[in-house]
Amino acid sequence: MKRTIGVCYYPEHWSEDRWETDARMMAETGITWVRIGEFAWSRIEPVEGEFHWDWLDRAIETLGKAGLKVVLGTPTATPPRWMIDRHPDMLAVDAQGRPRKFGSRRHYCFSHHGYRDESRRITRALAERYGKNPIVAAWQTDNEYDCHDTVLSYSDAARAGFRDWLAQRYQSPDALNRAWGNVFWSMEYTGFDQIDLPNLTVTEPNHPHVLAFKRYSSDQVVDFNRIQVDEIRKHSKAPIAHNYMGKITSFDHWKVGRDLDIASWDSYPLGFLIDRVDTTDDRRRAFLRQGDPDFQAFHHDLYRGVGKKGRWWVMEQQPGPVNWAPWNVAPLPGMTRLWAWEAFAHGAECVSYFRWRQAPFAQEQMHSGLLRPDNAPAPALEAAATVARELRDLPDADAGTSPVAIVFDYDSAWAWEAQPQGRDFGHFEAVFAAYRACRALGLNIDIIPPDTADLSAYGLVLVPAVFSLTDPLRAALASYRGIALLGPRTDVKTDELSVRLPLGPDVEGLDVSVVASESLPPEDVVRLAGKGKFRRWFDHLEGSAPVHLMTESGAPAIMGTDHLRYLAGWPTDKTFARIIGGLCDAAGIETTPMPDGLRVRTTSTHRFVLNYAPVARKWHGVRIPAAGVHWEAL
Ligand code: GAL
Repeated sequence: MKRTIGVCYYPEHWSEDRWETDARMMAETGITWVRIGEFAWSRIEPVEGEFHWDWLDRAIETLGKAGLKVVLGTPTATPPRWMIDRHPDMLAVDAQGRPRKFGSRRHYCFSHHGYRDESRRITRALAERYGKNPIVAAWQTDNEYDCHDTVLSYSDAARAGFRDWLAQRYQSPDALNRAWGNVFWSMEYTGFDQIDLPNLTVTEPNHPHVLAFKRYSSDQVVDFNRIQVDEIRKHSKAPIAHNYMGKITSFDHWKVGRDLDIASWDSYPLGFLIDRVDTTDDRRRAFLRQGDPDFQAFHHDLYRGVGKKGRWWVMEQQPGPVNWAPWNVAPLPGMTRLWAWEAFAHGAECVSYFRWRQAPFAQEQMHSGLLRPDNAPAPALEAAATVARELRDLPDADAGTSPVAIVFDYDSAWAWEAQPQGRDFGHFEAVFAAYRACRALGLNIDIIPPDTADLSAYGLVLVPAVFSLTDPLRAALASYRGIALLGPRTDVKTDELSVRLPLGPDVEGLDVSVVASESLPPEDVVRLAGKGKFRRWFDHLEGSAPVHLMTESGAPAIMGTDHLRYLAGWPTDKTFARIIGGLCDAAGIETTPMPDGLRVRTTSTHRFVLNYAPVARKWHGVRIPAAGVHWEAL
């Protein structure tokens, strides 16, 4: 597969006499792909049943004539106003029971069957019209499932769907009562129609009730997406993608991904750093105009795993300041090139910039593009052209291999959201901490799903904060010949979020039990013997397995066999890198401690070194300027 660049374009925002110039300039910039259409429903079908294809036909043709290929988006993230009159109850409802209103986007409830039919209908219409059009060479379903918190909906439709889902899963109210422990506080049900959604309870709802609702809601996203995929596949052989987001855990991307051909995601490093990266204020300051050095890479690796056969793209790449973060700075010159090369170093087939031209109107008028609203080039245009030129020397997509894998489990994200026990405990955060530690050692990392049955490709496997191991992974761990590090808080619960008995983890060959756990406030730490610290979490361990590391007060901090070890706490970054460095030595994996801000990734032919630091850094005698990228053939 070739590496390419792309851009997101909204022909419906501009007068038609500009389209040809835009298309020509895109081609001159070296752009291959243009994503269009994903919000254009009110122009495709302004009135129910009245389709206006002529403009979209001409837009696609204009792009095709310039030699560009189109990714066509289904417009279901933006149901037009008439749709609300047809289906007044299709609006999603928030946890306070308030319907969300028309006037922005994503105002639909995934459980609403009337809207699902509408979404099938518009997808079918698009697929019938463009499924055989050679210019439409890829598809995107909807846009960013869960953007603006839109997966959980507490609507009547969701309640009805949830009850059905529960009846299918548990078969009888008694079985559900037993699974959830509803004898507690007299929460027992005698019929599925008595069960409500887990919002507006007096104090916290029962954890398995919340977990079940999150599982149900995730399944609705999978179903909603599958309806579109099925329609498109009837008419088109082109690959289908969805554009996922950063740090979204509300639906199971592994499951959605199995229905698609390409995973893609929308990468906004500066918005993310301010908005959603778990880091310190000092690091936020240091990386303000570059983005967190590991956050993008983490998602590249995650979505490479989610994509079928590792196929993945960046569907939207930040070009300059965005409009949606609490503060919106401009990237350091060079970063819009660096971000693209980082994606390619992780195996991306395409990096597509969002958006071609800044819109002078509506919600995103402060969001930059490759062109300014007055058509003059914005700084990212030259960066995109540079990347396109550079791709002539390194044309082929290639992710290389990874000696280390980390398990990422959406179910565990939901379990710990339902029962955090410590305010800052989360599955995403636990996995990201492990990932960061590996990156600080210059390692290539794969992110793998929780039902992975074969770990033999890896020398080291990390399983942080997975609340309940799946059977395939449990079996794979028991026979694993590399080193696996489980914990903290791994396999301590049943699949229904009760305490596992006998006390977990339950992996053959690992005689370790978590007998109690503490969550630690930010001002508290557990000191380790020698040096190092745990924060956030500490599991009290017992068992006959050898102790490899102790706390200052003599409690086990790491216990286990040569192949299977349990980590009792959440290490600080430095401690984590030291622990993983030691395990890599034992597993025969080569590590390269990285200077702060410098990151490395190795494909099968090249080593890429990226400088996220705001100052120049040295790499084996090579000076890499701030925001610079260096690559060398292996
Ligand atoms: C994405 C979204 C785009 C646009 C962009 C702005 O989340 O998919 O439509 O809103 O953010 O940064």
